[in-house]
This record gives sequence, C-alpha cells and structure tokens, in this order.
Amino acid sequence: MKLLRERFKEMQPYHSDYITEGIKLDANENPYPILPEMIEHMQSWISTMRISRYPDTDSTKLREAVAEAYGVKAENVICGIGSDELLDYILRGSIDQDDTVLAPFPSFSMYPQFTILNAGQMIQVPLKEDFSYDADALLSAVKAHQPKVVFLCNPNNPTGSLLTLDEIRQITEAANGLVVVDEAYGEFCEVSALPFIEAFDNIIILKTFSKAYALAGARVGYGIGCKALIEMLNTVKIPYNLNVFSQEIAVWAISNKNLFEPIIEKIKLNRDRLYKSLLALDLRVYPSYTNFIWLEIPEEAYKMLEAAKIYIRKMKFNNKLYYRITVGTEEENEALLQVLSDFLKG
Ligand SMILES: Cc1ncc(COP(=O)(O)O)c(C=O)c1O
Repeated sequence: MKLLRERFKEMQPYHSDYITEGIKLDANENPYPILPEMIEHMQSWISTMRISRYPDTDSTKLREAVAEAYGVKAENVICGIGSDELLDYILRGSIDQDDTVLAPFPSFSMYPQFTILNAGQMIQVPLKEDFSYDADALLSAVKAHQPKVVFLCNPNNPTGSLLTLDEIRQITEAANGLVVVDEAYGEFCEVSALPFIEAFDNIIILKTFSKAYALAGARVGYGIGCKALIEMLNTVKIPYNLNVFSQEIAVWAISNKNLFEPIIEKIKLNRDRLYKSLLALDLRVYPSYTNFIWLEIPEEAYKMLEAAKIYIRKMKFNNKLYYRITVGTEEENEALLQVLSDFLKG
C-alpha cells in the first residue's frame, strides 16, 4: 500500500485465529467458566446501564476499586483497553524519534511492535540459553544504552521465566528512563514489584483482567505508578477508552477478588502437574511461574494436536521451533497429554 509510512513497510496486520471450538490452549486465557455471581451481577446491571451516554472517561470507579485492592490511591492508577493500550501510551507519551527502548528476547511480541509504531529503536537482550533471565546482561545493557523505556515482562511471556525483586530493583536504580514491569501473569507467581512504586518515580506496574480474572473478552488492563507518570499517560490517552460494560465488569471482578483466588490456585496446581507430566514424557520443558508452559516437542506432535482440535502456540526463535501451552482445565490437560503420549510412544 502506497500510503503506508515507510517505517511500517515490514509490518504485517496483527492477526489471531478466532477459535471457538476444540481445546484452546494458545492464548494464556483462564480456562474456567465465568463465575455465576458475575453473570448475575451483570444481568441486573444491564437494566440500569447508561449506554446512551458516554462512559466515565476517567474510569473513576474502576480506578478506585483497583486502588483499594492494592492499597494505593486512585491517582496512582490508569486503566486501558487491555494492558496493550497502556504499552502504547507509555511509548507514545515518552519516546521521540529513534529513542531507544530495551526489552528481553524472546518476550512479549507487542514490545517491538509498539516501539516501531512509535518510531523508537528496539534493543533486545537475549535470555540465557535455558530461557532463564540474564539479569546481569539486562543491567549492563541498561547502563550502556540508558534507554528511554525498559520493558521487564515478569513472569516472561512466552518462556515463563522470572526476575527476582532484587534484580528489578538494581535495574530500576540503574535506569535513567522509565522501567515498565509487565505483570500480566503476576497472579500466578509470588513476586510483584508493586511496592517499588513508593520508592521509585520511574517505575510503572502493568496488570490485566485478561488472564487470572478470565476477562480477556472485556479488554481491561491497568497501570500503577507515581502520580506524575499516570498524568503523563493521561495526557496521551484517548477519551472514553473503556466502555460502560468493561468498566462495570472489571469493577465487579476486582471488588470480588477473593472469589478468583481458589481458581488461580487451581490453575497453579494444574500447571505444576502438567509440568511434571510433560517432563515424564521426556520432553524438554522449561520451568514456569505463569499459567502456561514453554517447551520443545516434535513438529509432528503439534500437527497431531491440531488434528485433535487441541490448539497450542508455535513460535520460532533463532531458527528453532518452540511451543507454548496454556494450562487448561484438568480434562483439557489430560486430553493434551494423551495425544502427546500416544505420539511419543507410537
Ligand atoms: C506479557 C503480556 N503483557 C500484556 C499483554 C496484553 O494483555 P491485555 O491487552 O489483554 O491486557 C499480554 C497478552 O497476552 C501479555 O502476554
């Protein structure tokens, strides 16, 4: 397309298959049915909803509910159409043409994507060979390049690896620019950099309702940081970004956080069981602190899974194929293991 800007020429439109049948283990979603209490609440809300009016552009009720859940102030919170929108705002608000942005590699694909969209230059710091974080390399790269923005995906998508709080602290202390700790999967591990927002004015924590809260379809994420940082993001935020439905369902979810805790525990238990079962099949499986598992399987096994309508994510790094499997329900994990073990034994 002639009109497309030169710097976007290598980019492709984002596409993701919309899978509505079979076993969906490809997008790190929560596999359990939505809570009946949530359905009940939304059914009664629908008769009072103000759909003919614009929504609250500041998502005030939601920011207050998030603030209460984390013991911060509403002025420390911004909400977005998924945390994706906030990743874009962070770069939109802070980088000028050719400013550098640093991220681990492999990591969440939207970091380089949004960096290109915002005319920045991406520096990628490889994980170690076993896909654990190379905190020393990250620290050295931050010191050497002093990027405008550093993305730390913790735990990391797609590999499940984790940085310690001490490592995050060292990187944040060394950085002159903004450090974004993306905790999209934070509910599935014991580590959160949230307390650092007290001590540092250059750190922002991103979280989402798409994973642990089973609300990927509502598209709600939030960021927590110092007041000045949140104001910077509000400066570039589009008006009325979150619709009335998304604001209401997310307020309900965060205010009823306790109802999600047993589900999160169940997913963590299923993850640990799935990890052990995959190891028992003699596959190369990497430790995970998330709701998904990164591993190596023969491509033929992937094809067999697909034929059985079990969908996992295939990715290529350094010319080698790897796979990411979302932790499903007990039954879904059993079905996956059955196909894999039939393939490996057959
Ligand atoms: C690491 C990470 N960050 C952010 C997101 C974006 O999540 P959402 O826009 O659904 O909140 C994802 C989604 O998969 C992710 O894996």
